[in-house]
Amino acid sequence: MIELKSRFVRVSIRIGLALIGIAIVIVLGLIPLYIRKQRASSSQNGIAAYPAVLYIWSGQDISVSNAADFVAVIDFNENSSTYGQILKIVPLVSNASYQIGQSRNEPHHSAISSDGTYYISCGLLSFLLQQKQIFIWRVPQNVQDGPQFLYALDVQYGCPDEFLAIGGAKFLVSMMCNKNGDSPGNVLLIDAETATVTSYLNNASAFVDFNPHGFTRLNDSSLFLADYIRPVTLFGNDSSKILFRNTVRYVSADGSLERTFQFNFSNESRETSGVGQGIGFMDVKSIPNDSQKRAYSCGTNDNILYLIGPGITEPQPVFDLSQVNNYVKRISAGLISVSSDGTRLLMTFQMRFIILFNITQPKYPVILDVFDFCYDETLDSVPILNSDTNETTSFREYCANNNNITGSHVLLHPNGENRFIVVNYFLKAGLAQFAGTRSVHVFKLNEQLTNFTYESRFNPNFQSNYTSQQQYLTFHSLNAYPHHVQYLRL
Ligand SMILES: *[C@@H]1O[C@H](CO)[C@@H](O)[C@H](O)[C@H]1NC(C)=O
Ligand SMILES: *[C@@H]1O[C@H](CO)[C@@H](O)[C@H](O)[C@H]1NC(C)=O
Ligand SMILES: *[C@@H]1O[C@H](CO)[C@@H](O)[C@H](O)[C@H]1NC(C)=O
Ligand SMILES: *[C@@H]1O[C@H](CO)[C@@H](O)[C@H](O)[C@H]1NC(C)=O
Ligand SMILES: *[C@@H]1O[C@H](CO)[C@@H](O)[C@H](O)[C@H]1NC(C)=O
Ligand SMILES: *[C@@H]1O[C@H](CO)[C@@H](O)[C@H](O)[C@H]1NC(C)=O
Ligand SMILES: *[C@@H]1O[C@H](CO)[C@@H](O)[C@H](O)[C@H]1NC(C)=O
Ligand SMILES: *[C@@H]1O[C@H](CO)[C@@H](O)[C@H](O)[C@H]1NC(C)=O
Ligand SMILES: *[C@@H]1O[C@H](CO)[C@@H](O)[C@H](O)[C@H]1NC(C)=O
Ligand SMILES: *[C@@H]1O[C@H](CO)[C@@H](O)[C@H](O)[C@H]1NC(C)=O
Ligand SMILES: *[C@@H]1O[C@H](CO)[C@@H](O)[C@H](O)[C@H]1NC(C)=O
Ligand SMILES: *[C@@H]1O[C@H](CO)[C@@H](O)[C@H](O)[C@H]1NC(C)=O
Repeated sequence: MIELKSRFVRVSIRIGLALIGIAIVIVLGLIPLYIRKQRASSSQNGIAAYPAVLYIWSGQDISVSNAADFVAVIDFNENSSTYGQILKIVPLVSNASYQIGQSRNEPHHSAISSDGTYYISCGLLSFLLQQKQIFIWRVPQNVQDGPQFLYALDVQYGCPDEFLAIGGAKFLVSMMCNKNGDSPGNVLLIDAETATVTSYLNNASAFVDFNPHGFTRLNDSSLFLADYIRPVTLFGNDSSKILFRNTVRYVSADGSLERTFQFNFSNESRETSGVGQGIGFMDVKSIPNDSQKRAYSCGTNDNILYLIGPGITEPQPVFDLSQVNNYVKRISAGLISVSSDGTRLLMTFQMRFIILFNITQPKYPVILDVFDFCYDETLDSVPILNSDTNETTSFREYCANNNNITGSHVLLHPNGENRFIVVNYFLKAGLAQFAGTRSVHVFKLNEQLTNFTYESRFNPNFQSNYTSQQQYLTFHSLNAYPHHVQYLRL
């Protein structure tokens, strides 16, 4: 079923083999026999909880003295006594002569190169302060040591969003806007080895209303690009003027624009969340192995899941996601993850829900499971701290006081893993005040991939009981804004 063959997994196995027996044993205090036993414990369809670490790219509130955006290294070995804890943090360090600012970058997305040697991360809003926007780090042999900062890059666009590793040390990155926060943005090709940046698109300056956010690359190297928002409208003071985009583009392998899919926007209150103008496409992800090369994209304001493809004349609305909330349309910051065998889709929705679909028949997605961060009973026993007040509360109470928005946004489901990671923080800037609970959570899928459960053991967020244990670093104690996550298998 789920295929275990990501490039990264192969690299990890290579690095992992070198480490087994010595490094892991020393660092995590495990005996070799224990590890072998665990490796053998993978389930029938090949998914299992593999020993790993997470790199979480996070902002830090500027009220903290010497505040610095940082990478948190988290123990992701469920059999370790420090499972779910922050092992260390690696802060950015300001370097004024090189325009590197350690804070206020608004840490956004990240990626690991296909060859496993580079970690790359970006600051969505670094450009507003004329700070460098893209940070290149070395992934050490002992991945638990955390990334080592190498250098930062600036580019002539603004609002870097998603990275995609495309072989060797090369990445694509979507830039949502120009340096005025406006259209056109671009898709750039970065080579971390040579520190070079080139435009991946032909003629991007001629693209109209071009503000690319999420994107996806097909095996033939063509791209789908989702247009999200005109960023400058978030820095006005009238939320009705926020302008979301109504297009998804298809770009051929040589970087030329082939198609622009137009979506119909309606002002009817029942058909939109009512925030600003337009639909807003935050993400688009292709269906692996689909002969028609189709992809899914979801509207921020209309809450509709659409199917598009090079051979589809009009975008096809295939599912009204608002049905998980009694057809109440709310603004959503949903990112999409499609399993490598193309049969499952996981996504965050309305900054509150997680939805698991069976997409075996792409035109007829079927919901298999839904999780509600606001009112799911399993969270009743999970206390959280409200970062804005430092008061212990429950998710239920938090939601009642915060418009039902926990900030659920980034979702990472690594290939072959039975766990996936959800980050509850979207953005706190200008008119976009969606900080949510500023926490990171893990869920475990069952073998049949038909449901998933909350992993309460995983908690890098807040320590609710200081008396029984030593105090340790948490996202709360760090006053953090965790945004994006990478998974590095040991
Ligand atoms: C690791 O921990 C999990 C969850 O606690 C448990 O189900 C599993 O059996 C453990 N694996 C080994 C090899 O002990
Ligand atoms: C600033 O960056 C430059 C170039 O990478 C480096 O040579 C220099 O040592 C850095 N300065 C500090 C204070 O880190
Ligand atoms: C660039 O865009 C302009 C304006 O749309 C068009 O006339 C021109 O043919 C394009 N060039 C390429 C190489 O696509
Ligand atoms: C906000 O509104 C006020 C008064 O309506 C106006 O003077 C000001 O320029 C606006 N600020 C921005 C950033 O648009
Ligand atoms: C929606 O309504 C706003 C004002 O309420 C208007 O400016 C805009 O043109 C309308 N958009 C469409 C697509 O009807
Ligand atoms: C690309 O090709 C690989 C190997 O044939 C396959 O496993 C994968 O699913 C394909 N991806 C897409 C998006 O079709
Ligand atoms: C958009 O509107 C046009 C004209 O009303 C209609 O023909 C088309 O099917 C609509 N497209 C979608 C994706 O709803
Ligand atoms: C998923 O959908 C396919 C096609 O409709 C169906 O055959 C299969 O049984 C479904 N799987 C689950 C777990 O619902
Ligand atoms: C929050 O969600 C609950 C349960 O779905 C609902 O009853 C309540 O009206 C919602 N509140 C807001 C402000 O949307
Ligand atoms: C998940 O699915 C499995 C297999 O169908 C079932 O045994 C289990 O009870 C389900 N768990 C939940 C929480 O629904
Ligand atoms: C805190 O830990 C102590 C010792 O393990 C335990 O007795 C106590 O009940 C715990 N308190 C809470 C609120 O969990
Ligand atoms: C909450 O606690 C954090 C960490 O101790 C601290 O940095 C922050 O200032 C506190 N916030 C408030 C509102 O008290």
